[in-house]
Amino acid sequence: MSEQIKFFLPGPTYVREDVRQAMTKPMVGHRSAGFKDFYVKLSAKLPALLRTKGDVMVASGSSTLVMESAVISCVQKDVLNLTNGAFSERWHSISKSTGRSADKLSAPWGQAVDPEAVRAALRRKKYEAITVVHNETSTGVMNPIADIAKVVREESDALVIVDAVSSLGGAPVETDAWGIDITLAGTQKAIAVPPGLTVFTLSDRAAERAKAVPHRGFYTDLLRYLDKHKEGGFITTPAIPLLWALDVQMDHILAEGMEARWARHQRLQEKTAGWAASRGCEYASAEGVRSLTVSCFRPPAGVDPQAIVKGCTERGYTIGGGYGDWKPTTFRIGHMGEVRESDLDALLQVIDQILEKVAAPAAR
Ligand SMILES: Cc1ncc(COP(=O)(O)O)c(C=O)c1O
Repeated sequence: MSEQIKFFLPGPTYVREDVRQAMTKPMVGHRSAGFKDFYVKLSAKLPALLRTKGDVMVASGSSTLVMESAVISCVQKDVLNLTNGAFSERWHSISKSTGRSADKLSAPWGQAVDPEAVRAALRRKKYEAITVVHNETSTGVMNPIADIAKVVREESDALVIVDAVSSLGGAPVETDAWGIDITLAGTQKAIAVPPGLTVFTLSDRAAERAKAVPHRGFYTDLLRYLDKHKEGGFITTPAIPLLWALDVQMDHILAEGMEARWARHQRLQEKTAGWAASRGCEYASAEGVRSLTVSCFRPPAGVDPQAIVKGCTERGYTIGGGYGDWKPTTFRIGHMGEVRESDLDALLQVIDQILEKVAAPAAR
């Protein structure tokens, strides 16, 4: 891969040329023996990514489909949604919109969820499941999933359902070691495959729990996915070209190695942090809980974050604007997926030029 990456959105992310090319093969039938053989081989590569000895399934749909499916399949009534940003708030909306009796435990945007607050909530009321977003893409905060899952296990038999959408493939996500019942992630972020697929796990106890839930729907029934997966196939016609892309990208990911991939993301985060500190860009996320894959900043006083985003676009670079409530006040740099340190260096120099230009009138 020699092409310079100029695309730093916090998802979707840059996709390698050979991964893109993999999608252009002539079509095959999804019930053919050849496709089944391909899928079985692809399935063998995915557990290393999600760090599980269990099955990893793939849904043709974006992450929100599996966020919704997890609630529909595994919760009859009471769910606790841990929220500290836009995507965890979405899970609360999903829970309510599917008629569940959903409570919310909120931490302020920019802060992580406190495991001890979760403990207190679980002592107040019994829940069938908790949902939590590992990496809040809206704020650049990483929640301490290992600690939260431990508290949940100590206090209750609630399922631990984790959105690892913008962390999986860029930061440690230990499905088995942390005791996660469902880990889900879309492929378009640190996994660096085009949007449209979501990989997910389903623990034995989550599958058992789901059996007792009536009306799990069809597209949203995670047990149906599991049954078909065990037969080597899909519940419906899958997004075949995206699966080809995922297969090629999994070879790249496994060749790099998970630990090396996390270490690269750590270096990218540290480089971004060092740059920001010397340019007066203030982290919007609290110290100690900052994401390895996306950094969210408030620009120096007097600088409009949109001017930085626009300036990047004019120079052929893409970064993220603020998200949700933070749209007017922040900008985000996605340093995930295939981004190398040299790519990031070039972007940061570009932002330097923009800051010099837009900050100058304010300083005068
Ligand atoms: C943390 C997180 N969860 C969920 C989603 C929703 O993903 P999708 O829009 O692909 O359904 C996103 C999208 O950016 C995200 O960042």
